[in-house]
Amino acid sequence: MTERRPSAEAGALYYWDYLGLDALLSAQQPRSDLDGEPAHDELLFIVVHQAYELWFKQILHELDEVVAIFSADVVPAKEMGRVVDRLRRVVAIQRLLLEQLTVLETMTPLDFLDFRDALVPASGFQSVQFRLIENRLGLDAARRLQIHGAPYTAVLSAEHAALLADSEAAPSLRTCVDRWLSRTPYLRFGTFDFWSSYAGSVEAMLDGERATVRQLASLTDAGRAEQLEALDRTADEFATLFDAERYEELRSRGQRHLSQDAFLAALLLSLYRDEPLFQLPFRLLTALVEIDEGFTTWRQRHALMVHRMIGGRTGTGGTSGHAYLAAAARRHRVFGDLFDLPTFLLPRSALPALPDAVAHQLRFASEAG
Ligand code: HEM
Repeated sequence: MTERRPSAEAGALYYWDYLGLDALLSAQQPRSDLDGEPAHDELLFIVVHQAYELWFKQILHELDEVVAIFSADVVPAKEMGRVVDRLRRVVAIQRLLLEQLTVLETMTPLDFLDFRDALVPASGFQSVQFRLIENRLGLDAARRLQIHGAPYTAVLSAEHAALLADSEAAPSLRTCVDRWLSRTPYLRFGTFDFWSSYAGSVEAMLDGERATVRQLASLTDAGRAEQLEALDRTADEFATLFDAERYEELRSRGQRHLSQDAFLAALLLSLYRDEPLFQLPFRLLTALVEIDEGFTTWRQRHALMVHRMIGGRTGTGGTSGHAYLAAAARRHRVFGDLFDLPTFLLPRSALPALPDAVAHQLRFASEAG
């Protein structure tokens, strides 16, 4: 690379060089130019994809640090604020990623057709960094949709496939968070059996709802029976929380991903999120929900854009196109468990009071003293 700087500032750092702009700005090579039939919009297509890859790099940088902190046997409380900040940054980047699709949509389907065929078989399906993010977050390989019976790595170079195999084997954010939640000391409060008090409160809440349904004059007999059945199903769902065998059954069916201890700890943090010591862990859970929502929203939006851009055609990467993408958006979720937590929340007024000794431990020293 030739260094360019004003001669008066020999040896000083120069903006152009610092950012490697020789390499960056010469990395846009439209295929249609090479083919001798330049298509105006191909530059936009390349720039938008490259901007995505740069942001993917930044997301991986943030996730790597979070996973490194969470991989320790004990996560230092001092680090928790930083972890939440990193995850909030990922959420901010995701918002930007979503907006970029709007810029790409200024290209019409006909403009895209000017250069689309020259791209085959390349596709975003081969985005190695996107797959690394999925694996770093904790998307199970077994959960992935297969294309023509082949794994997602089948369309990648041997080097990239090996990189992804390593990332599948490495600790993910989901497994680290699971271990961290499972270690929560507050799951068992000495002699106080929180969960039986909680189960009692749930029973009382559901009994109250059943009584209301029985008394409601506006309901028909069939409507009443339907609502009472729905309440029985809710009671049954609550029961799975404490039944290890049934919980594992849900996991084997892919309906739960977190371990039972981790799920209960996440529930406890959500129920008592007002307690000072739980506030930061609760914000961490919220950031994970937002990251999952951010990627799911991007996937849905990308599927919609693809429908608009190529209709019912197959993709350049060989999938069914928008139908595959919409199915992946539904299935390729990592923190879906956390979205289910509200099913098991109780109103603050119905929450079992924590014993004084426990409540003290959850307050800051100045308040607890
Ligand atoms: C005209 C715009 C676009 C079209 C028509 C398009 C089309 C497609 C199609 C059809 C697929 C499915 C795989 C295949 O058969 O090729 C796909 C996958 C993918 N695309 Fe795009 N895409 C566009 C823009 C983008 C952009 C800007 C990105 C940003 C990086 C992107 C990233 C991805 C990723 C990551 C996948 C894999 C998704 C998964 O397997 O879950 N695409 N795209």
